[in-house]
Order: sequence, then structure tokens, then C-alpha cells
Amino acid sequence: MSGIIEAKNLVKTYRRGREEIQALRNVDFGVDEGEFVSIIGPSGSGKTALLNVLGCLDTPTSGSLRLNGIETCGLKERELVKVRRDNIGFVFQQFYLMPTLTARENIELPLLFSHKDCNKCRIDEVLQMVGLADRGDHLPGQLSGGEMQRVAIGRALINDPRIILADEPTGNLDSATSQMIFELFRELNRKGLTLVIVTHNLELARQAQKMYTLRDGQIVGCEDLRCVAGAEIRQDVR
Ligand SMILES: Nc1ncnc2c1ncn2[C@@H]1O[C@H](COP(=O)(O)OP(=O)(O)O)[C@@H](O)[C@H]1O
Ligand SMILES: [Mg+2]
Repeated sequence: MSGIIEAKNLVKTYRRGREEIQALRNVDFGVDEGEFVSIIGPSGSGKTALLNVLGCLDTPTSGSLRLNGIETCGLKERELVKVRRDNIGFVFQQFYLMPTLTARENIELPLLFSHKDCNKCRIDEVLQMVGLADRGDHLPGQLSGGEMQRVAIGRALINDPRIILADEPTGNLDSATSQMIFELFRELNRKGLTLVIVTHNLELARQAQKMYTLRDGQIVGCEDLRCVAGAEIRQDVR
């Protein structure tokens, strides 16, 4: 089966003065379309490096990355921008919202760069999808942390990507709000979106379909959680 993300032998080496830091050491990583995958691992294990490479925010030192069937290694920056824009939505721990723009305007912002024709209905639809139908005219400062992250998720969705990559999206949120954000991710996944989420929180990570563990720049574990989820559903029915 061919995946929507197919990474082979990814190496990412950073240089700090004379020191060489191997953030990713020959990582093979694949995600099928429609999958919900989480990545856990200690601080410094290479989670952000991996996500940035998968999302074409950073280029690997070597290795290959196919996104939606397109080999990205060797593409020029302009081509890379297009692959990224057409396929990927990013969500970060810090929400990176523009404080002077309303929720609706923040969500609309990527359209400035994609030059996509997006009618008002699409923005309303996205506000609805992230549960902010009645908050569109609020400024970030008037929103809670969870609502700000919802705006950021809406902004990631506006260009209609196939994949959402999220780097510690609940790192700044309390546990109840984090759970609600994960429920939103699960809902988006049920609508067909592919999700790769980095988190420190094992309880949240286990709500994905597959959980990868990263250590010292290598994938050291992959757990399929689907049968566990099935068991839970059966319990609920009883
Ligand atoms: N721009 C950079 N320059 C030098 N070293 C970096 C840079 N970014 C990350 N690193 C190093 O690469 C390793 C992996 O970092 P990172 O991917 O941020 O880990 P994580 O997200 O799991 O905490 C760490 O040792 C980190 O110090
Ligand atoms: Mg990180």
C-alpha cells in the first residue's frame, strides 16, 4: 500500500559550531491516508525535527520523503511551498495568532498567500468545524487558550489540506481543554483528515490509532492502538 507520507532513511544533522547533532538517524516513517498517528518521546529526541521535515518546513540532510506521491527531496523552494500548501496544515504549541486580527481574520490569513478563492461559506464552515461559530468576531485576547488553539486549527484547515501536523498542540493547555482539542482532532480524522500529532502526554497519545516512540533521533517503538479502542467501544455497549 502506498502511504500519504512515505519517509525513508531520513537523516537530519544540525551543526552548532564544531559540534554535529544528529536529530534524526535513518528514520523510516509512513502514514496511510486517513490515519491518526501520535508521536511521543523525551525532550530532544527529534520530534520537532521529524515533524518539520515531514511538513517541508525543513529539508533533511539526506533521505527521501514522498508526500501524496510526490518526491519532495530535490524540489526547489517554490515547488516545496506548493506541495506544503496543497497538502499540509500546521498546528503549534504557541498558537501564533495575530493579536490585532479577529478569529475569522486569523483563519482567513493563509488565503492571502495561497491566492485561493475562498468564499465566505468556507470560512463559516471552518469556524463551525472547530466549534467557534459564535466566536468569529473575537480577538485572540478575548478567547481562552483552548479557543485560541481552535482558531489555529481553523487556520490550518482553511486551505483544505490532506494532512495536519501538530507539534505539542496541547502543551499550553490544561488537561480538560487538551482532551477537548483531542476530541476535535478525532472528529476531523473521522471526516477523513490524516493527522500526525506530537505530544508529551501519554494519555492523549494513546487516543490515536498508532503511537510511535522516538528516542535519540530513532523510532524505537510503534504501537497499534486500534484494537484497544475497539475493546473500549465494546465495553461501552455492554
Ligand atoms: N536549529 C538547531 N540547531 C542545532 N541543534 C538543534 C536545532 N534544532 C534542534 N536541535 C537539536 O536536535 C535535537 C532534536 O531536537 P528537537 O527535534 O527539537 O527535539 P524534541 O522536539 O523531541 O524536543 C536536540 O538535540 C536539539 O538540541
Ligand atoms: Mg519539540
